[in-house]
Amino acid sequence: MATMIDQPSSQPAPVPAALADWTEMPDSLSPVLGRYFERSWSHGRGHRLYDTGGRAYLDFACGIATTVLGHAHPAVTRAIHEQADRLVHISNGMGYVEPVSRLAAELAAVLPDPLDTVFFANSGTEAIEGAVKLARRVTGRPGIICFSGGFHGRTLGSVALTTSSINYRTGYEPLLPGVHVAPFPNVYRDWGGDAEAAVSGSLAALDRVLAEVIPPSAVAALVIEPIQGEGGFNPAPEGYLRGLRERADRHGILLIADEVQCGYGRTGRMWAFEGAAIVPDVVCLAKAIANGLPLGAIVSRRELHDRWGKGAHGTTFGGNPVACAAGLAVLETIRTEGLVSNAGERGVQLREGLERLVAADEGIGDVRGPGLMIGVEFVRDRATREPDGERADRVIARCADMGLLLLTCGTGHQVVRWIPPLNVAADEIDEGLGIFQRALEGG
Ligand SMILES: Cc1ncc(COP(=O)(O)O)c(C=O)c1O
Repeated sequence: MATMIDQPSSQPAPVPAALADWTEMPDSLSPVLGRYFERSWSHGRGHRLYDTGGRAYLDFACGIATTVLGHAHPAVTRAIHEQADRLVHISNGMGYVEPVSRLAAELAAVLPDPLDTVFFANSGTEAIEGAVKLARRVTGRPGIICFSGGFHGRTLGSVALTTSSINYRTGYEPLLPGVHVAPFPNVYRDWGGDAEAAVSGSLAALDRVLAEVIPPSAVAALVIEPIQGEGGFNPAPEGYLRGLRERADRHGILLIADEVQCGYGRTGRMWAFEGAAIVPDVVCLAKAIANGLPLGAIVSRRELHDRWGKGAHGTTFGGNPVACAAGLAVLETIRTEGLVSNAGERGVQLREGLERLVAADEGIGDVRGPGLMIGVEFVRDRATREPDGERADRVIARCADMGLLLLTCGTGHQVVRWIPPLNVAADEIDEGLGIFQRALEGG
C-alpha cells in the first residue's frame, strides 16, 4: 500500500491503494512499443509515481516531458472533472465549445505576434503532419528541409522528417518525397564544443543543400526543433536559428519550430526559440500543454490559416474539450505560480549540481541545456567522444532501483535527459542529484 503524499495541503485527492501488477498479465500488448522499464505502475501524486508494490519514485521522466505540473495536480484534475461532467466530446467540426476557443485565445496570447491562430490536434506527430500540409498548400511548393538527428514523430509524414534513429525509418520506405535533411549544428558531437564554428559550418552546409539539392523556390518549409529532444538534448545555437530565419525570409520559405518537447516553459523561457530573438512562422506544440491528456496544436498567423483554406485539414478528436479544459488549467497554473522562472532557477541549481558531480567522471563528455531540459552525455572516452549508451542505460536502471525516474535519449541512447516537472522544488533537485551520484558511482 502506498502511504506517502508529497504534495502540499492543496492536494485533495487521497492516495489510492496500489493496483495489481500488470507485468503478470498475459502478453497481449504489442512488443513493437519500446519500454524504458519493465515495471508496473499504479498511480501518481505530485512528483511521485507509485508502482504496483506501493513504492514511490521521484518522477523526473514526466511521461516523457508531459506531466509538467506533476501527477493529479488539483487544478488540472478539477478542470478535467468539471468538463467531463459537462461535455466530453462533440468534435470541433460541429461548432464551438468554450474551453477550446478559450485555450486558442490563451495560446495566442502567450505566443509572440503575429502567431495568433490555432489548429488543435491530438499529438505532436499530428501537429507536425498538419504543419507540413499547411506549408505545402500555402506556398505551393513541395520541398521540406529538416535536420539530422531530429525527431518529429512516428506517423509516415513526420517519420520522413525524423532521423534520430534508423530503426524509426527502416522498412517504411518510400517515405514522404521532397524531404531533405541538412546537418543540425550539433556543437558537442560534430564541432568539438565550438558553437561559432557549428553555426557557420552548418549554415554553409544548408546553403549547399539550397544550391545543389533543391532550389529555395521549391522549398515550402524548414522544420527544426530549437533544442533537439529525442536526438540527444542538443540546443541549436542562437546564431543558427537566426540564420534560418534570415534564409526563410529571403526565399519565402516558412520556418516551422517544433516546440513539442522544448516549449512551454521548459527552458526557463516560455518558448525555446525566444533565446534567438526570432519568431517562427509556425509553431507545433503537444506534450506539456494538457499535462498528460492528448492534445497538440499548430499555431501560425491568421493569414496563413486563411490561405490554408476551409476543409483543407481536419480531425475528429483534435481539440477535445476535456483536454482543452486541462490545457487552460495548465496555462493558468504556469502563470499564477511563476513556473517559467521556477524552471530557470531550478535549472541553474540542477545544471550546477550536475557539473560538480560529473567533473571527475571521465565517462561523461558533456552537460548541456537550459532550464529544466538538461542532457548528460556518456562517452567511452572524452577525447574520441565515442558514445556509451550502455552505461547510460545502466545508470538510469540503477536510478530507478533507487527511486528516481530518468530517461535516456540520443541516437545511441547515450544521453541521460533531465526533464523534471516545471514546479519542481529545490530539495527534490537535491534528492535527484544524490541518487544520480550514487548511480554513477556504481560504474
Ligand atoms: C520534438 C518532438 N516532436 C514531435 C514528437 C511527437 O509527439 P507525439 O509522440 O505526441 O506524436 C515528439 C515526441 O517525443 C517530440 O519530442
